[in-house]
Amino acid sequence: MSEKKQTLALASDHGGYWMKDFIAFKLRDAGYEIKDFGTNSGDSVDYPNFIHPMAHAVNEGEFEKGIILCGSGNGAQMTANKYPRVRAGLCWNVEQARLIRMHNNANILSLPGRFVSFDEAWKIVEAFLQTAFEGGRHTQRVEKISQIIK
Ligand code: RB5
Repeated sequence: MSEKKQTLALASDHGGYWMKDFIAFKLRDAGYEIKDFGTNSGDSVDYPNFIHPMAHAVNEGEFEKGIILCGSGNGAQMTANKYPRVRAGLCWNVEQARLIRMHNNANILSLPGRFVSFDEAWKIVEAFLQTAFEGGRHTQRVEKISQIIK
């Protein structure tokens, strides 16, 4: 019997829609359950409309990890990082994905749908999901991220 895997939250705008669709297919094939917050077509939309509900759900602990996409990955990442318990990292290669897990304990991966191939995106997703947080000296650094100066 195969081990039940976690449910992952996904969200994108039109710039990441087709890549989201591909990643959702690959994740389901790998045994993950998906909660897809949209968008649901390639029609032009505003990325915060889809990223906010997903990042809110991650922030509330409804999902341990998620993947967001937009054309550059930047707008999606900026929106998600408005939530205090979200740590979203923008990655365009596998080493970046390993580092946002090992050093930053990222719980959301942001992908640039218009700047990486589908093949590279899947390798990045696999690295994000399979890499553990190193802890140690990185724990206090991650804790300090939310300690903004007022
Ligand atoms: C949409 O054209 C594009 O601006 C969006 O997908 C994203 O790249 C924004 O950061």
